[in-house]
Amino acid sequence: MENDDQILKMCDIPAVPMVAMKVLKLVDSQNTDVDSLQEVIMADQSLAARVLQMSNSSFYGMGRNVDTISDAIVLMGFNTIKNLALAVSTKEVYKKFGLLEQKLWEHSIGVSVAAGLIAREIRVGPAEEATVLGLLHDVGKVVMNNSQPERFSMLTEMVYNERVMYTDRERSIFGFGHAEVGGIFAHKWGFPNHLCDSIRRHHFGSYDDLLDLEPRTRALCCIVALADSLCIRLGVGYRGPMADLPLRDSEYMQLLKITEDRMAEIIERFKMAYIEEKLSYQM
Ligand SMILES: [Fe+2]
Ligand SMILES: [Fe+2]
Repeated sequence: MENDDQILKMCDIPAVPMVAMKVLKLVDSQNTDVDSLQEVIMADQSLAARVLQMSNSSFYGMGRNVDTISDAIVLMGFNTIKNLALAVSTKEVYKKFGLLEQKLWEHSIGVSVAAGLIAREIRVGPAEEATVLGLLHDVGKVVMNNSQPERFSMLTEMVYNERVMYTDRERSIFGFGHAEVGGIFAHKWGFPNHLCDSIRRHHFGSYDDLLDLEPRTRALCCIVALADSLCIRLGVGYRGPMADLPLRDSEYMQLLKITEDRMAEIIERFKMAYIEEKLSYQM
């Protein structure tokens, strides 16, 4: 695509970290066993710690003490481990860690937690898929910021000063949007197609625009859009609450058939879970 060429010229899409690549390859091959997957995970301290921590966390709800990587693999399943490897690797994409990057990271964690809670509530597909999608939905912003920091900070200032969404101004500054950049990133990292599509389409105009996608991908787009609105409203990963922006949460709630009452409960659960999740990354 023409736009993709322009993006690749302006943005440096990072390579997949070695450990994630090995896990992806192993999980995708037909004859993988627990031992070989364990070996790869054990070779990477931060991934090993995260697998153990997640398999024991109340968020993943395994309900028992898991103290070996092999038990964690058996309990969580190969696909969850694959998603976890991608999630852990994401942090490496954040080259610098200033205030702007900190906010982008917090926003990703927030949307990831909210998307997981929403997916659990409506029970469409595995919830950890929505969790990983939440973590990665705005990865395009990180890539744009790493590649063109001045331009990206100008965009961010516009968002705050003019009280607009990133999507309202990014095209005039970059010539393309962060969702497209994220889509290219996801494709290059070998994500499953439905995750690539949901990252690329998470700022859809109307539901009709999603009709070419599979129902599961459509649901993921709506889940992440609702989780995103929730976080923007509360100011998660922003300098403060941005409730005055034209958020479309009620439209997404309708699409996902979530009532106001259920949403209020999700928001309450979110506040606790977000703090817990954010702390877990600081370990
Ligand atoms: Fe976004
Ligand atoms: Fe977002």
